[in-house]
Parts: sequence; C-alpha cells; structure tokens
Amino acid sequence: MSAPMQASIDYGRLVQQDQVHGSVYTSPQIFEDEMDRIFRRGWVYVGHASEVPTAGDFVTRMIGLQAVVMTRDKQGGVNVMYNRCPHRGNKVCQAEKGHASTLTCSYHGWAFGMDGALAGVPFPQGYGTDFDRSQHGMVRVPRVESYGGFVFASLCAHGEKLAQHLGEGARMIDMLNGLSPEGGIELTAGWMKHQLDANWKVPSENQVDGYHAMFVHGSLARANDAWAKVRDRRENSTARTRDLGAGHSEIDHAADYAEAGTPFRWTGGVDPARLPQYVAAMQKAYGQEEAQRRMVLGPPHAAIFPNLMLAEMNISILQPVSATETIQYTTPVMLKGGAELNARSLRRCEGALGPAGFLIADDAEVNALLQQGLATTQPEWVVLKRGLHSEKHEADGSISAGLMDETSQRGLWRRYRQLMTAVA
Ligand code: FES
Ligand SMILES: [Fe+2]
Repeated sequence: MSAPMQASIDYGRLVQQDQVHGSVYTSPQIFEDEMDRIFRRGWVYVGHASEVPTAGDFVTRMIGLQAVVMTRDKQGGVNVMYNRCPHRGNKVCQAEKGHASTLTCSYHGWAFGMDGALAGVPFPQGYGTDFDRSQHGMVRVPRVESYGGFVFASLCAHGEKLAQHLGEGARMIDMLNGLSPEGGIELTAGWMKHQLDANWKVPSENQVDGYHAMFVHGSLARANDAWAKVRDRRENSTARTRDLGAGHSEIDHAADYAEAGTPFRWTGGVDPARLPQYVAAMQKAYGQEEAQRRMVLGPPHAAIFPNLMLAEMNISILQPVSATETIQYTTPVMLKGGAELNARSLRRCEGALGPAGFLIADDAEVNALLQQGLATTQPEWVVLKRGLHSEKHEADGSISAGLMDETSQRGLWRRYRQLMTAVA
C-alpha cells in the first residue's frame, strides 16, 4: 500500500495581489516548502568577500537550513561548501569565523584544503591502496557567484544567473559601493545577532515598511528631535516605496534628500566639515559634482530577496530557523577609504541596532507580536491594499508609490508566489 500523499498547498490562492493568507507565516509545512523552493533552488546571500580577505580565512553561514562554510583558498578564490565531513558526517567548522591552513575535522582528523579537497587522512594505510582521496572532499555547493563583493550561492545546479536574479537590485549594491571613494565596502566590524520570534517574512516586510515608523518607533521620535521631524513630515514626504522586481524592494529617499540638497542627511545631518578627508577623497575619485550627488543621496534602504537587507549604513542577514523563528545578523557598513564616516557608522549601528539599540528592540517586539497575532486564525487574511490605486509604473520597470504604501510588500509576495507555484 502506498503512503497517502500529502495534500499540496495552493499558493496561488494563499498569496494574492492585495491579500495574503495568515497561514503563510505560521505553517511548518509551508516553511519546509520555502526552504526547498526559495532557499534551495534560488540564489541566497551568503557573505561578503571582505569577510575572508586572505587565504585560509573562513566564515560559517546557513543557506536555508543547510550549514555551509565560505572560504578563501590559495588561488584567491571564494568557495562555499557544505559544512559536513565527508567521512562520517561531523560538522567540520564550528567557529563563526577563523583562519586555518586546513579545515580539520574534530572527530577523526581528516583535513581539507580551503577549496574542500581532502588533504590528509590520519593512518591512511587503513584504507588500502585504492582509496581515492579526490572522491572524499567536502562538497562544494553547485553555484556561487558574486556581485560587487556580495557572495551569493544556490544549492541547485540549474536556474537563472545571479545577474538575472538581482536585476534592478544590483543598482542598490552599486549605490552602496559608490559611497566609498575606492568603490567598495568591508564588513569587518563584527556581527550582532538578534533572535526574532517571528517568521522570516515578517522582518523582510518590515525592512521596507514606511508606514510603521511613527507608531513602532514613536518613543524614539519623542526622545529625539531629528526623528520627531521625520515623523511630522512623513505624510508629505516625497520619498517613495519601490518594487524593484524579482522580490527586491526599497524605500527610496532620493527625492526627499535631493530636495533638501545638503549632504549627509542620511547620517544624522553631520556637517561635511567634520569629514574633511572623506569628502576630499570622494571629490578626487568622482569629481566635485558627482561626489556631491552621492553624498546627498546616501546609501540604499533595500531588501534583496530573500535574505539580504541593505539598511542604509547597516547590513542584515535574515536567517530562517523555523516557521516562527528567525535570527537577524547585523553589521555596520565600513566604506573603503571612509575612516571618518566609519567611526560614526559604528556608533550609530550600536545605538540603533545594538543590544540596547533604539530601533531593533522596537521592531523585534512588534515582529513577535505579529507572529502571536497571526497564530490566531481570524480574520484569515492579511490586507495589502495600501496605495494599490496610486502606484506608478516607472520607465525602468519598477513600480513606485508613496512612502507609506505597501508596494514593496506586494513586490515581495509577487516573487514569492511565482517561486512557490513554479513547476520544479
Ligand atoms: S567524521 Fe570527520 S574525520 Fe571522521
Ligand atoms: Fe522599524
């Protein structure tokens, strides 16, 4: 007798243009499907090249629920391998990051090169003469590609190229790198970890939600003048929420910042005179006018589907754990050639997103409350109608609407629906 088939889930019904069924945030079966269809088949952000600058460096990460290790090998290449010993299955690298000449398994001492090749086996005579080391290396994930220093991987051998997956999202990475006079960033300040008692899609949607700030972050607005101004002018803001396609989205502050015309509003309105070396280096690299434009417009505020958040001068990775739990990793962006600004970014990251930070505590709490609310089954649907009637289809293919509209969330869900209903 064959086992009864598990009923397949109708994602086309659960995810609609202007509403999403509550179960997509709570169902363990749906979470499993996501790990397969989004986090195994698709491109997932793994790490930044600057985290493994020299041969022998490694960091451990997850792609969905699969443990991986990202390394720098002697040839200068970046590898992403499953973090499992090909002997009997031990997890090879336990540290979050490190530097070693070989990755050595703690169970029986098999040693691997940074490219995963089996370099040594203790007491090899026990394997006889026909033991083929080349068949017993750590397994590399099928596809690794990077863009602007950001390394992505896919656990599936086939599918679209990274460039196609990133689409307009690549422009967000360019914008961030373009704030460095040397054209690149480094993620070297260390990572903070926050456990969110929420499904991974809750913080994803929250990242590009321009509607919640005045409520969830109300205490910050009350405590801080600059924030109070943000709150007061929100409804008339010329900032846009933008669906970039392929599930990527942004809150685009360009119009707001350009209108003001002063540089560094995105970093609390610091006086350019306090960043003389950075300003001079930008002008030297890009010319007076272009440097000014970059320093006025600042960094992106974007979500790169499914797990990378470019949150202005902070980067976050969302690590799904279960249907109801996510780890958020956060680090400040260090600009190559931007030491003066970097010192400031580090302090601001601690203040906003550190253990006693002003922002993340608020967001983490409301994320958990959403998850609790969504566990209650009535009403069945989450409403995503805001701004649907006033969206603008832009020449570059993106869709934009007002700062407080739900265009970004609808973009995320459109991609989700496409991936979850795709035929394998
Ligand atoms: S399990 Fe790794 S060496 Fe045996
Ligand atoms: Fe927030």
